[in-house]
Amino acid sequence: MKNSDKPNDIKTPNSTKDTIVKPVNGAATSLREVFIDSLKDIYWAENALVNALPKMVGNATSPALASAIKEHHAVTQNQVARLEKVFELLGENAEGKKCEAMAGLLKEGDSILEETEPGAVRDAGIIAASQKIEHYEIATYGTLVAFAKTLGENDSAKLLTQTLAEEKEANCLLSDVALNAVNIVAAE
Ligand SMILES: [Fe+2]
Ligand SMILES: [Fe+2]
Repeated sequence: MKNSDKPNDIKTPNSTKDTIVKPVNGAATSLREVFIDSLKDIYWAENALVNALPKMVGNATSPALASAIKEHHAVTQNQVARLEKVFELLGENAEGKKCEAMAGLLKEGDSILEETEPGAVRDAGIIAASQKIEHYEIATYGTLVAFAKTLGENDSAKLLTQTLAEEKEANCLLSDVALNAVNIVAAE
């Protein structure tokens, strides 16, 4: 890539010395702390999704898409409760910490709504945004399961594995809706 082709907000460091980040006060020193921090992050993200999914349902035209997201909304509420159980198992307070990644994905989802006409085209946009969200969740829960197992937190690992399976299922369902209906109509 020529330098002139790069987006101008991406800066290339001058040397590797510039890339070493100074940790903040209270930075994690153990895997357990990283695990708890990641749980707080996804707890915030799942709660944000509980608030955001009804808007996606309201903007969907395809009944199959609307019902897939509606169902995942109920599943997501249960995932919040499951995370609370994990916090309890670990003897930690259930508290959220703003997940910048999910905040960004939801912001992008809002822009997609604004930038598409309602109907099949907006539906295709909703599926695209939702699948990015599901993939983020799949990555997060995959890591959380691995952390829990490494730390010997097997009951937590079991609960997190259930959520991981639900996120994968939601993603597959979105692919089905896209392939079977929405993208075909959107391309017409
Ligand atoms: Fe979720
Ligand atoms: Fe999800």
